[in-house]
Amino acid sequence: MGQKMTDSVTLTIDGKTYTFPVIIGTEGEKAIDITRLRQETGFITFDPGFGNTGSCSSSITFMNGEKGVLRYRGIPIEQLAEKSTFVETAYLLINGHLPSLEELNRNRVMLNDSSLVHEDMHIFFQNFPKASHPMGILSSMVNALRSFYPELKDEDNITKDFLNLISKVRTMAAMSYRFSKGEKIVYPRHDLTYCENFLNMMFDSPVRPYVLDEDIVRALNVFLILHGDHEQNCSTAAVRVVGSGRVNLYAAISAGIAALWGPLHGGANQAVIEMLTDIHKNGVSIDEVIKKAKDKNDPFRLMGFGHRVYKTYDPRAKIMKKMCDKVLSKISGPDPLLDIAKQLEEVALTDPYFVDHNLYPNVDFYSGIVLRAIGIPTNMFTVMFAIGRLPGWISQWKESMEDPNWKISRPRQIYTGLSEHDYVELKDR
Ligand code: SDX
Repeated sequence: MGQKMTDSVTLTIDGKTYTFPVIIGTEGEKAIDITRLRQETGFITFDPGFGNTGSCSSSITFMNGEKGVLRYRGIPIEQLAEKSTFVETAYLLINGHLPSLEELNRNRVMLNDSSLVHEDMHIFFQNFPKASHPMGILSSMVNALRSFYPELKDEDNITKDFLNLISKVRTMAAMSYRFSKGEKIVYPRHDLTYCENFLNMMFDSPVRPYVLDEDIVRALNVFLILHGDHEQNCSTAAVRVVGSGRVNLYAAISAGIAALWGPLHGGANQAVIEMLTDIHKNGVSIDEVIKKAKDKNDPFRLMGFGHRVYKTYDPRAKIMKKMCDKVLSKISGPDPLLDIAKQLEEVALTDPYFVDHNLYPNVDFYSGIVLRAIGIPTNMFTVMFAIGRLPGWISQWKESMEDPNWKISRPRQIYTGLSEHDYVELKDR
């Protein structure tokens, strides 16, 4: 299993022929190994956005963009969403196999034991301006964790680091919400599960005790499972690139959070709800929205649509769409934004522009509807994505640290600037 070196390809430059090995992955995907290209030919490759470039080999997640396939450690996302929990899926991503009951329970205890945030960090939250975006707070606070929890080095302890991060990021997300509202924080409880604790820390109040609803807890587990990992996406690539300098785990994850914040990446879930809200509030017609999305002169894009890898329906969006109906019927009743989203999807999927460009709903198109129904504020949607993606980032960071062939990331470039010329004294300019 895993990568096999077989066959080769030849490249002819200026009449000289070079041979490069071909690597074939578990699912038959092929790569030309060009690690010796510059050394042998003096040429580099040119691939802005790395759409055709593999940065590593990995055994964590597999996607087939043409068929809409997503598997974590070989297990289809549909089965994990139906049968697993976020804590179990996090274990699978990081350790490479599903946990035994004993391993799962040990993880639960360690997550609970790590769920408090150092009291001296509370003052950090109090000093962020009230309007600060939760992603900026989270990225800063994760970096700051390193000062309070010096990285544990040996094998056993590195697991404690991972669980420390997974547990504290969840607590800090709830804390930042409470501080933003000027409300006392709610401490985690040892008798609640990971997702129950998050909801309780977010919404429990002395005037109205939060009542946990199993369907909402399940919806949150599924949301986090669906965001667990996704191969070498923008933020995971950032974690690997920053980690390749051998910086500590917290700093690498903080870089991943910053990369995820962008509206073209994890920030899209917030942008989708803002787009749907704008359409609803201003009574913009579906046709007008689709027309703007197709207009090359208009910067507007249909947020939550399109994907670098998926050229068919994102399998996570399918699951999320189903969950919308279930969660809404249970909690808040019909949501006009869901109706608008469904109408947009229906029109887009029959429109030649979207069909020709292979633009389908991605994970962010429906996820915001679910989070809204649960009561998560819009500006925290990407934080929720980050909580889900944390085990993926950690597993990718761990895999890169354990890779004997891993080197510091240092891409090359094609220079297009001025040729050499002399410095001109200020008096002569
Ligand atoms: C995530 O990589 C991952 O795995 C990411 C992610 C994960 O789990 O980590 O799946 C999470 O980031 C999902 C994507 C969330 N972003 C959005 O929903 C934002 C809207 N979508 C896009 O901006 C875009 O589709 C991207 C950024 C997702 C993908 O961009 P690409 O692959 O670089 O494609 P592109 O921008 O070059 O677009 C190709 C063509 C262009 O038209 P042409 O110039 O070729 O005629 O498709 C058009 C684009 O204009 N296009 C869109 C569009 N997305 C692409 N046109 C209108 N609306 C859109 N949403």
